[in-house]
Amino acid sequence: MRNDIERVLIDEDVIQRRVEVVAKQFQQDCIDNDVHKITVIILLKGALVFGADFIRHLDMKLRIDTIHASSYNGGKESSGEVKLDHFPDVLNRDILLIDDILDTGLTIKAVRKKLSEGGAASITTCVLLDKRVSDSRCDITCFDIPNEFVVGYGLDFEGHYRNLPYVGVLKSDAAMEKLRQDELTD
Ligand code: XMP
Repeated sequence: MRNDIERVLIDEDVIQRRVEVVAKQFQQDCIDNDVHKITVIILLKGALVFGADFIRHLDMKLRIDTIHASSYNGGKESSGEVKLDHFPDVLNRDILLIDDILDTGLTIKAVRKKLSEGGAASITTCVLLDKRVSDSRCDITCFDIPNEFVVGYGLDFEGHYRNLPYVGVLKSDAAMEKLRQDELTD
């Protein structure tokens, strides 16, 4: 799989250190705001890896829920339409909403709206990556990145590369096609 990656944008150890710092800061903010119990909502599938690492730095009472959100349909461009499956009960809950990446901002916006309509007591939005494309920002961002299609650490292309421990940029379509041809002739 490393062969398919043009360059690594964020190394594994950099991600791990940053996630720990950000999670601990979030916990401190909760203490300061007298919030002692939260519901963490992890958006599937992209935020699975990030969310799992983030919550393990939190030393507080929490429940975990998931929502399956999709707008990319496996490819490299957003369809512009956000589909949400299985919406949990959030009435009076303090929510930490975790997603992998902020691109057009449509996904976070759609989920945030539904959480408000569901009567959440508070909503904190958190993303690993922000492409700085849209005008909206999340409450917590681990890294700003250039506007390129990235994979790894939960992010996929056509369902693959989620298990890479780092975030990287895929080789161009032409380079990937050449790799496939080379593999076929090997
Ligand atoms: P929006 O545009 O709604 O996008 O902010 C959020 C969702 O789109 C997916 N996304 C990506 N997935 N590499 C990916 O693997 C990317 O560069 C990328 N950009 C957006 C992702 O599922 C995210 O939750």
